[in-house]
Amino acid sequence: MKHILVTGGAGFIGSHVVRRLVNNYKDYHIINLDKLTYAGNLENLRDVEGESNYTFVRGDILDSDLIEKLFQEYDISGVIHLAAESHVDRSISNPMEFIQTNLVGTVTLLNVAKKFWEGRNDVCFYHISTDEVYGSLGKEGMFTETTAYDPRSPYSSSKAGSDHLVRAYFHTYNLPIKISNCSNNYGSYQFPEKLIPLMINNIIEKKDLPVYGKGDNIRDWLWVEDHAAAIDLVFHKGEVGETYNIGGHNEWKNLDLVHLLCDIMDRKLNRPAGDARSRIKFVQDRAGHDMRYAIDASKIERDLGWTPSLQFEQGLDMTIDWYLTNSDWLNNITSGAYKSYYESQYKNR
Ligand code: NAD
Ligand code: DAU
Repeated sequence: MKHILVTGGAGFIGSHVVRRLVNNYKDYHIINLDKLTYAGNLENLRDVEGESNYTFVRGDILDSDLIEKLFQEYDISGVIHLAAESHVDRSISNPMEFIQTNLVGTVTLLNVAKKFWEGRNDVCFYHISTDEVYGSLGKEGMFTETTAYDPRSPYSSSKAGSDHLVRAYFHTYNLPIKISNCSNNYGSYQFPEKLIPLMINNIIEKKDLPVYGKGDNIRDWLWVEDHAAAIDLVFHKGEVGETYNIGGHNEWKNLDLVHLLCDIMDRKLNRPAGDARSRIKFVQDRAGHDMRYAIDASKIERDLGWTPSLQFEQGLDMTIDWYLTNSDWLNNITSGAYKSYYESQYKNR
C-alpha cells in the first residue's frame, strides 16, 4: 500500500483529486490533510468518506508536529500539495493569511518531506500552482513553462514564492519535486466567491451580477476534472524537477462569459430572455486586476499525452445543472458566514 498525503483535499480542486485517487487507485491510501477553513467542506467528499483507502485528518499545514506524525505513522511516499488560500480578492484585503499558508505552510511541508525522505528517490513532492505567477498578458502571447515570473497580487506573489521554494528544495537538497501551473478551473463544488459559481448563485437568487471594471479581462477556463486528470498524470508520469503548464485553450472575456451564463440560465429556469442580463452591474474594478491569462499547454500534451476532455459549453452546462441540483450544498454555504463576506465585498464597489 502506498500512502499519499493530499493537502487541501476538502477544497474545490482537492476534492476532485481525492475522489479520483481514492476511486482509481485501490492500492493507495489517501490521507487528506485539511484545516477546513471557510473554503474547506467535508460535504465535497461525502461519497468517498467511508472508503477503506481514505483517511481525513483535520489540521494545519503550518503544524510541523502533526505533519511529522503523519509521515511517521503512514510512511508517506507522495505529497500532492493543494492547500492554499486561493481567492485573489481576499488576498487584497488580508494578505498575511496568504503568506502564512501559501509560503510558510509550503516550507513547513517541504522541511518535513526533506527530513523523512533523505536519500530516497522513490518519493515525490508535487506542488499545485497557478498561471497567475506569470503575471498579466496583453492581447497576444501565452504563458509557457519558461515565461519569467511576474506576480502582481498578494495571492499570486505568495504562490510564486512557494513555487520558488519548491524548486529551491530540488536544487539545494535533491528533494524529488514536480510543479504544475494551471489556468482558471470551473466545475462542481467550487466555492461561490469565484466568478462562475458566484454568478450562478446570484442568477438563481435574482441578485445583481457584479462585473468588475468593463468586464473585458480574459481568463482561460478548464473543467476541474480535466485538471484532476492532469494532476494524476503528472504525479505518475511527470519528470522529477519539471514544471507543466495546464490549460484548456479556452479564453473568454468576462462579460461574454457572464452573458453566456445568463442566457443558459434564463432558459433552464424558464425565465424571459434577457432577465438575468438585466441585472448585470459594472462595479469598481479589482485593484491591480490582471488583464489576460492564457496557457500554452503543449508540453503536457506532447510529453504526457494530456488533453482536455470537454468542450467549454458542455462543461458549463453540466456545471450549471450541478449547482441547480445541489441547491442544499449551495444554500448551506450562502446562508452562513458567506453572507457577511459577500456584503463586505460588494457593498462599496
Ligand atoms: P480552495 O480555496 O477551494 O481550497 C483550498 C483548501 O485548502 C480548503 O479545503 C482549505 O480548507 C484548505 N486549507 C487552506 N489553508 C490551509 C492550511 N493552512 N492547512 C491545511 N489546509 C488548508 O482552493 P482551490 O481552488 O481548490 O485551489 C487548490 C489549489 O490549486 C491551490 O493551491 C490553488 O492555488 C491552486 N489553483 C487553483 C486554481 C483555480 O482555478 N481554483 C487554478 C490553478 C491553481
Ligand atoms: O488563473 C488561475 C486562478 O484562477 C487561480 O489561481 C485562483 O485560485 C482562482 O481564484 C482564479 O483566480 P481569478 O482571480 O482569475 O478568479 P475569479 O473567479 O476570482 O475571477 C475571474 C475573473 O472574473 C477575474 O477577471 C475577476 C472577475 N470577477 C470576479 C468576481 C468574483 C468579476 O468580474 N466579478 C466577480 O464578482
